[in-house]
Amino acid sequence: MIKHLRSAADLDAATATLILDTAGEMAALAGREVKKLPTLRGRTVVNLFYEDSTRTRISFEAAAKRLSADVINFSAKGSSVSKGESLKDTALTLQAMGADAVVIRHPASGAPHRLAAWVDGSVVNAGDGTHEHPTQALLDAYTMRSRLGRLDGLRVAIVGDVLHSRVARSNVLLLTTLGAQVTLVGPPTLIPVDIAAALSPSTKVSYDLDSVLPDMDVVMMLRVQTERMQDSYFPSAREYSRRYGLDLARMRKMPEHAIVMHPGPMNRGMEIAPEVADSSRSTIVEQVANGVSARMAVLYLLLGGKA
Ligand code: NCD
Repeated sequence: MIKHLRSAADLDAATATLILDTAGEMAALAGREVKKLPTLRGRTVVNLFYEDSTRTRISFEAAAKRLSADVINFSAKGSSVSKGESLKDTALTLQAMGADAVVIRHPASGAPHRLAAWVDGSVVNAGDGTHEHPTQALLDAYTMRSRLGRLDGLRVAIVGDVLHSRVARSNVLLLTTLGAQVTLVGPPTLIPVDIAAALSPSTKVSYDLDSVLPDMDVVMMLRVQTERMQDSYFPSAREYSRRYGLDLARMRKMPEHAIVMHPGPMNRGMEIAPEVADSSRSTIVEQVANGVSARMAVLYLLLGGKA
């Protein structure tokens, strides 16, 4: 087993499949009255969050607690980080406290890689800048597999603000490792030139959402990340949603079995219409539930559990 999960590229097909299978076993636990396993008793998991988060943070906390680990939640707001403490000094503090795993979310791409050099425990990337979010990709893959039965050969469109999306990058890497065919869709200003070639040569790019929808098994909508935008990438929100928003009329162009995904948080009415987000084809709430199982599997396997 690998020691750290910094990038979806850390996972080969066998390791990724092992994590998904283990997540399946963890999910079975969620149906029980007592949702706890003693596996990580006596181990310490630190959640180190330098950026806002709802789902990911709660999910990692629930995952560690269900495995009986001691959980320490650290958020940069209200800590010595606001007094100017560096990531390295914070890392050395965690190291001194004996963290077995550090889950980190940070606005700087590459922060988990630096952290791994400073602590002895496992490092799990919970989102670094616009770079990667590997556990999101795992829970997304898990959701696709449980809804559609397979990943190999699955046709997946990832739609919208690819430029700023760590979710998109990790998904492309993981999904292609597992044999899916990914198409990135969005306005040219929000799809980095050569991204497909850089991440995986089999990935396609399209600027025309309507033309790709009939061929997809999965349509994953991305949040338009205005907080990361210094320039204007499209004329107006209205214009964006007219061309790249998933509304009911567009959803009807998808094959009958196809599902709609979104990592959350959503801009309802912008990239996704409320009727689509709340429809039976949407897996958005399921993704959140699966997130706990996927993160339990990751913590369990990284910290030395057997399959
Ligand atoms: C994503 C993130 O923070 O990268 N959300 C999440 O983890 N569920 C996507 C986003 O913020 O748009």
